[in-house]
Order: sequence, then C-alpha cells, then structure tokens
Amino acid sequence: MTATIINGTAVAERMRNELAAEVTRFKERHGYAPGLGAVLAGDDPASAQYVRMKRRACEQIGIESTAHVMDSSSTQAEVEAAVRQLNDDPKVHGILVQLPLPKQIDEEKILQLVSLDKDVDGFHPINIGKLAMKGREPTFTPATPTGCMVLLEEVGAKISGANAVVIGRSNIVGLPAAMMLLKANATVTICHSRTQDIPGIVKQADIVIAAIGQPEFVKAEWLKPGAVVIDVGTNQVDDPASSKGYRFVGDVDFEAAKEVAGAISKVPGGVGPMTITMLLHNTVKAAWRIAGE
Ligand code: GUN
Repeated sequence: MTATIINGTAVAERMRNELAAEVTRFKERHGYAPGLGAVLAGDDPASAQYVRMKRRACEQIGIESTAHVMDSSSTQAEVEAAVRQLNDDPKVHGILVQLPLPKQIDEEKILQLVSLDKDVDGFHPINIGKLAMKGREPTFTPATPTGCMVLLEEVGAKISGANAVVIGRSNIVGLPAAMMLLKANATVTICHSRTQDIPGIVKQADIVIAAIGQPEFVKAEWLKPGAVVIDVGTNQVDDPASSKGYRFVGDVDFEAAKEVAGAISKVPGGVGPMTITMLLHNTVKAAWRIAGE
C-alpha cells in the first residue's frame, strides 16, 4: 500500500487565500487592518527566521505586523513592557511571544501577561487550562497542533474513538496536540523519553503525531498498516548531494513509512506551512472578536 501524501502547502495556500479575502472584508468594514504584534527576545537564528516568516505571511494577506526585537541580555522588565505595550495598542489584535525566551526570562509570567483577547498562540494558562478540561473551550488553540488537526480533517481521518499516539510532550506541540485529540474523543497515549516500548505503543495507533525533534525516529515497522501519520519534525541533516550540503527530514522515516501508512504528511511541506496559517487564522479571528463581531 502507498499512503496518501498529505500536502500541507496546498491546504495552507487555500486557507491563506480565504483569509486574505476575509482580511479585505474586515478592512472594508472597519477601515483598518487586523494587526499582529511579535516579541522576539534572544539571538536564536531559528526563532528570528520563524518571526520573519510569520511577519511576511501576515503582509502577504494584508495583516499588519509590528515586532519588539530584543537581544539575549534583555530583562524580565523589558519583555514584560513589550507585552504590556502590545496589550494596550489598539492596532494590535494578536500577540506572538516567540519561544523559547532567553533563560533569565520567566516564560510563565510573560505568557500570563498576554491579554486573553489577543492570545493568538493559545499559550496563556487560561486557554491551555480550558483546552485541558472537559466542557470548556479555549478562545484560541496553539498553532502547530491546530494545524495537525486540520490536516487530519483534510484527509478524512476518523478521530472519535481512534487510538491516537502523540510522540513528544512539549508545551508547544506534543501536550496541546494530545489535549486536542482527547477533546475530539480519541483515546490518547503520549510517548516521551521515559516511555517503555514506544514501537509497541505506536503499533496500536490509528493516528500518530510525531513531535520529538529526532530525525527519522519513527520507523515503518512500528506503524499499524493504514495509520494516519502527521510528522511535526523539521530536522536538518547533512546531505553532501544537495547544493546546500544539508536537507530537512521529519521525525518519521518517510520513504519507508509511506509504504505502510494510510496517509502521511510531508517534510517539508506538511505541518510547517500550516503552523503559520493557523496563526494568521487566529489573528483574523482576534480582530473580529475585538471589533465585537
Ligand atoms: N516556537 C516554536 N514554535 C512556536 C510557536 O508556534 N509559537 C511560538 N510563540 N513560539 C514557538
């Protein structure tokens, strides 16, 4: 069997076209654009690149963006001041605090400070708490796991009653992904560095979300035939055959896994473009909510 390849780039493009039309409608109605305010603290090149990509994506669909860029020696008071300024800025409807923050910064305090109405990353403890609880709905959900859920829907995966295995328990992806699957009535298992017999657990899974950040960690033999596999990993590996000398691979051994899975997302071109698209979606939603619609 050869799997359906889940093309996140195509899904993201379709959604971004729809969002661009919605932004136009918003501007016509209100006379101003939705706005995203980013906070980037530290000198991690990957974070800087993510923020650049997010701001460019905003610009492409007509969302205005601003950024507070601070170096790795920035203080708690400086980062808090940047968040407060964005909370108070009426042109800003969504706030993105790029993670990780420098080690001297108390991340929990910063995320708690973000206005709930502008929490487009869904990392405020109230939004995460509501995501975790039965019968409660967060206003916003984190971008990457939301992108995974959209891809599952896109491929027609049956989530309710399915055995779903999430590999990785990060605050940004693994944990919220597991909570979203649980909300959608899957039976969820989270695997992590202390889990015994990950292959045996994955073998039971109808849905696998791999988010551990280890190149090609998940092997084809672990998969149940027909499983739907969402690969969140983007790992740089040496590749002397490529002009750059490297290429990106996911957390799943794609070439072998696609012969066993029912559907599998690509890397690059799977979850990555969806993450930014979900942030755009949340920012437009925030603008409508703040405008009272
Ligand atoms: N760092 C890695 N992924 C993300 C994300 O989705 N949002 C934020 N704010 N930081 C990140």
